[in-house]
Amino acid sequence: MLLEKIQDLKKERSKVYSKRIEAILKTLEKCNTLADIGCDHGYVAVEAIKREVAKKAIAVDLHPNSLQKAIDLSKKEGVFEKIEFFVGNGFEPIEEPVCQAVIAGMGGDTILSILSSAKDRLKDTKLVLQPMKDTEILRRWLFENKFDINEEFVVNDKGRFYIVIKTQMSGKLEYSDMDIYIGRHIHTKSRESLEYILRKKEKLRKIAEMKKANEKDYSEEKRMLKMIEEVLGKW
Ligand SMILES: C[S@@+](CC[C@H](N)C(=O)[O-])C[C@H]1O[C@@H](n2cnc3c(N)ncnc32)[C@H](O)[C@@H]1O
Repeated sequence: MLLEKIQDLKKERSKVYSKRIEAILKTLEKCNTLADIGCDHGYVAVEAIKREVAKKAIAVDLHPNSLQKAIDLSKKEGVFEKIEFFVGNGFEPIEEPVCQAVIAGMGGDTILSILSSAKDRLKDTKLVLQPMKDTEILRRWLFENKFDINEEFVVNDKGRFYIVIKTQMSGKLEYSDMDIYIGRHIHTKSRESLEYILRKKEKLRKIAEMKKANEKDYSEEKRMLKMIEEVLGKW
C-alpha cells in the first residue's frame, strides 16, 4: 500500500508531457511574467511556474471552458496563486508588460493576427511560437514586421512534425525566401529537420505532379523544390 502510494507520488512528480509541449517548455528563459496565450489545458503556464522558469504566469483563452481546464490544473498542481486567468482575445486582457509569451497549438494565421493586434506592446517580449500550419505565412509576417527569428527547430512527436520558433522584435532585417519557406535555423540542424525537409519535398513533389497533370501552373512548387535540393545538397 505504502509502496503503491510512493510510486503514484513519483509518477505525479515526473509528469511527462508530449514531446511538443516539452520542446516548448525547454525553450523558455527565466523571466518574471510569462503569458500563455491560448492556454487551453494550461500546461505551459503551470509548468513554467512549477519549474521556476517564471515567477508569475498569465493564462488567456478565448473560451471559458478551456480556461477552466487551466484553472483546474493549476489548483491540482498547487500553483493557482501564481497564475492570473483571463477569458479573452490574445493579449487584450493583459495590462502589464510580459517578458515572455508562448502562443502554441494554433494556425500561423491566428498567431499572426494575435501578434498583429498587440505589436506595439511586444517590443521587449520574447516570443515562443508553435504554429500548427501556415508556418511560411507566419515567418513572412514576422520578418516584414521586424521580428527576428533567433532560434527555430523541428520536433517529431509521434510522426507529426512541429516547428517551434523563438523570436523577438529587432531592427531592420535581411531575409531570404529560404528563411521563409524552410526556416533560417532549420537546415543543417538535426535528424528531425532532415526528416521534416524530406517529407516537405515529397509533399511538394506530389502537388507539382498533380498540377502538371491538370495543366496548372506549378512554378511555385518547382521553385521551392529547387530550394530544398539546394539545402539537401549542403547537408
Ligand atoms: C489547440 S489549443 C492549444 C493549447 C496549447 N497552447 C497547446 O499548445 O497545447 C488552442 C487554444 O487557443 C485558443 N485560442 C484560439 N484563438 C485564440 C485567441 N485569439 N486568443 C486566445 N485564445 C485563443 C483556443 O480556444 C484553444 O483553447
